Amino acid sequence: MAQDKQDTKFAGLRAAVERSKGRTLKDLFAADPERFDRYHVALGDVVFDYSKHRVDEDVLHALFDLARAQKLEEKRDRMFTGGVVNPTESRAALHTALRAPQGASVTVDGQDVMPEVLSVRAKVAAFARGVRDGSIKGATGRELTDVVNIGIGGSDLGPAMAARALAPFGHPRIRTHFVSNVDGADIGDTLKGLDPATTLFIVASKTFTTQETMTNARSARDWLAGKLGDDAVPHHFAAVSTALDLVGKFGISEDRVFGFKDWVGGRYSVWSSIGLSVVIQIGPEHFADFLAGGHEVDTHFRQTPLESNIPVLMGLIGVLYRNAWSFATQAVIPYDQRLGRFPAYLQQLDMESNGKHVHVDGTRVQEATGPVVWGEPGTNGQHAFFQLLHQGTEVVPIDFLVAAEPTDADLHHHELLVANCFAQSQALMVGRSEAEVEAVMTKAGAKPEAIAAVKAHKQFDGNRPTSTFLYRKLDPKMLGRLIAFYEHRVFTMAAIWDTNPFDQWGVELGKELANKLAPIVSDAAASLDGLDGSTAGLVEHRRALIGT
Ligand code: F6P
Repeated sequence: MAQDKQDTKFAGLRAAVERSKGRTLKDLFAADPERFDRYHVALGDVVFDYSKHRVDEDVLHALFDLARAQKLEEKRDRMFTGGVVNPTESRAALHTALRAPQGASVTVDGQDVMPEVLSVRAKVAAFARGVRDGSIKGATGRELTDVVNIGIGGSDLGPAMAARALAPFGHPRIRTHFVSNVDGADIGDTLKGLDPATTLFIVASKTFTTQETMTNARSARDWLAGKLGDDAVPHHFAAVSTALDLVGKFGISEDRVFGFKDWVGGRYSVWSSIGLSVVIQIGPEHFADFLAGGHEVDTHFRQTPLESNIPVLMGLIGVLYRNAWSFATQAVIPYDQRLGRFPAYLQQLDMESNGKHVHVDGTRVQEATGPVVWGEPGTNGQHAFFQLLHQGTEVVPIDFLVAAEPTDADLHHHELLVANCFAQSQALMVGRSEAEVEAVMTKAGAKPEAIAAVKAHKQFDGNRPTSTFLYRKLDPKMLGRLIAFYEHRVFTMAAIWDTNPFDQWGVELGKELANKLAPIVSDAAASLDGLDGSTAGLVEHRRALIGT
C-alpha cells in the first residue's frame, strides 16, 4: 500500500523528467537565450542561479505541484507559528524566533517566547561586551585573550564554522578555539598553546550530559584548577545549555549561564546563546547582522511564491535529483576559504535532519530520503576529487558558493578564484565532445594515431547539474542568509517526504553502546560475555596490543 502511495506521489514528476530526457543543459541554453534570466532569483545582493539544472517549465510545474500536494506552505506556516512540528519529541522548532527582530511576537503554547529570546540575547551581548572591553577579567585580574568553546555536533559546528567564516570581523585581542572530540588530543593540543590566566572556557551543551563535552569540560576544569586553584574556576568558565540545574552542579555561576529552549534543535542552535563564542569574537552588533540575514531569508521563505522562493527551489531541485534521477549525493563547494567548515556544518544540518527511514506517522518510507552531503572549498577540491565530478560514473549535483569581492583579501587572487568557480560550473555543463577533442588536438599538430589513443579519455559528457550562489561578500549578514537558505531547503525536502527533520534518534544507539563498552574497554578484567564476536575480538586484540 505504502509503495502505491509513494509511486503516485512522484508519478507526475517522473513523467515530466522522462519527457525532459534527451535534451542536455547545453541544448536547453541553445534553445533559450533567456534561460539565465528566467532561472535565477536575486534577494538583496545574493543571486541564486539554478539555470544549470535539469529543469524546464514542465519539470518545474511538476515540482511545484508536488510541493502543493504535500502541503509545503501549510507545514512551513506551522513551523513558524510554533506548531508541534517535531512530534517524536512533542516540540515546536522555533530557531526562526531566535533571529526575529524586536517587536515580533511568536507564540508557543499560548505564550509569546520573544521576551525571553530578547532577554537572553541581551544577557549574551552584555557578557560578550565585558569580555571584549576587558571589564570581565580572569581570576588574576588579566584581560581574557582566548575563548575555548567546548561542545560537539550542533554545539560546536555552528560556532566553529561561523568563527572561521567571520574571522575578519574578529576582536584583535581575542582568539577563539573549538574543542569537540573526546579524543584527548583535541583538548590536549588546544591547551598547550594557552595561558590559564587569560583563557575563558564556554561549555556548550543543550543537554549538559553529552559524554564528549562533559569529559572535555572536566579536563579543562582540572587543568585550570591545577594551574590557578579551585577558586579561579568560576572566573574562567561560562555555560550555554537548556539544562540549568546540571550547569549549576558543574560549578558555573548563574550570571555566566546562558539558556535556550528545547524548541531549538542542536543543529539549528547557532542563532541562540550557543553562538556566545561568536558574539564574543565579532561583537553583538555584527552578530545582530548575522541574525538579520537569517531573518531576511525567513521572510523570503514565508512570503515569496514557491516559483521564486530560493529555499523552496533548492529543496525541490534536491527532491528532483534524489527521487527522479536517483543521485545519491550532493556536494557543496564554497569558493571561499573561510567557508571551509561550511560543508561539515551542512552535513549535520542536512544528514541529521533528513537521514530518516520513516514518515512522521511512523510508517516506513518507500522512497529515497536525504542525500549524502559533502564538500570542500574550491579551488582545492579541483585538484582532488573534481576528476570524479567531471568524468566519474556518479552524477553529483553541486552547489557553488562564491563572493563577488573579497572581504579583506587580495583582489587579484579573488578574481582567479571567481574565474575558477565559474569555469567549473561551465565545464560541468558543456563538457567536451570527442569531435572537439579531435579538433583541438589536430590544431595543436597531434598525429591521428595519437588522437585516436586518447580522445575517449579526454572527452567529457557534460550535462552535470550545478547551482551557483553569487553574493557580494562574506559578511555576518551574508553568512546568516546562507545558513537559513540551507535550513529551509532541508525543511522543504522533509515536507515533501513527510519525514520529521527535527529529531535524531539515529545517533542514540551508538551513544548507548559506547556507554556500555566504556567500562569494558577500561577494565582489562571485565567480562566479554554477551558481546558479539567481532566486538569481543576487537576488545581482546586491543588488550593484547597494550599488554593488559
Ligand atoms: O549527536 C547528537 C546530538 O544530539 C546533536 O543533535 C547535538 O547537536 C549534539 O549531539 C550535541 O548535543 P548537546 O548540545 O546536548 O551536547
